[in-house]
Amino acid sequence: MAKHINISLKGHTVLVTGANSGIGKAIALAFGQTGAHVAVNYVVQPEKAEEVAQQIRQSGGQAITVQADVSREDQVQAMFKQVIETFGTVDILINNAGLQRDAAFTEMTLAQWQKVMDVNLTGQFLCAREAAREFLRRGVVPERSVAAGKIICISSVHQEIPWAGHVNYAASKGGIHMFMQSIAQELAPHKIRVNAIAPGAIKTPINYNAWSTPEAEKHLLELIPYGRVGEPEDIARVAVWLATDDADYITGATIYVDGGMTLYPGFSTNG
Ligand code: BGC
Repeated sequence: MAKHINISLKGHTVLVTGANSGIGKAIALAFGQTGAHVAVNYVVQPEKAEEVAQQIRQSGGQAITVQADVSREDQVQAMFKQVIETFGTVDILINNAGLQRDAAFTEMTLAQWQKVMDVNLTGQFLCAREAAREFLRRGVVPERSVAAGKIICISSVHQEIPWAGHVNYAASKGGIHMFMQSIAQELAPHKIRVNAIAPGAIKTPINYNAWSTPEAEKHLLELIPYGRVGEPEDIARVAVWLATDDADYITGATIYVDGGMTLYPGFSTNG
């Protein structure tokens, strides 16, 4: 059971993409606990998005569900319009929607490559651009935050760790890294903060096979010095904090939340 979040973001509006499962769901629920208005984006399985929204409402928050394929410009623009019409503005974007289409490199189809690029990278571009436009239009609202807006890109340890058999995914996450830093540089003078969280292995549907049996989990733990596979709430708590003014001087940064996976544990007894 997730710990309660003791941070108030009352009156803030947060849009979380891919919020009907995994890390996105945990982030949406965590923001709900802060009193923020939460827009729960999904592309398929509306009933799962509705469950997340219901849970937020039951805990006293306000939430809507909003369907959009983040790789489609028209759908992303319609999504922002709907959120802004409902809650008045958007204060925080969590660029979370992402997927894997794994294949050996020489077997990888253009469709597998393109799908991952479209959702993981182009999707972050389209959503961040709409969010930044809204932040610039509205400017700083001192009662809510000293910043005009915050964008948090959910990346991966694979923005740094090469990943055979998953080159489309690793390339998309490497792209997110430079995309995030470049827009952070461009938007900082407008008091817009842009950062990334790079999760390691977190128990979600995307990597179910890597942790769902004791043997698989044991094998996975060889990559994690801290000795446990992460939970979605490990990411959610960091996302909430990063969106608060306590983190106001952080922009253009990637926070690795990975139990030490990027410490390359294979080198602890070799090299
Ligand atoms: C991937 C997971 C993987 C983890 C660590 C994540 O970005 O989506 O499938 O378990 O990285 O390798």
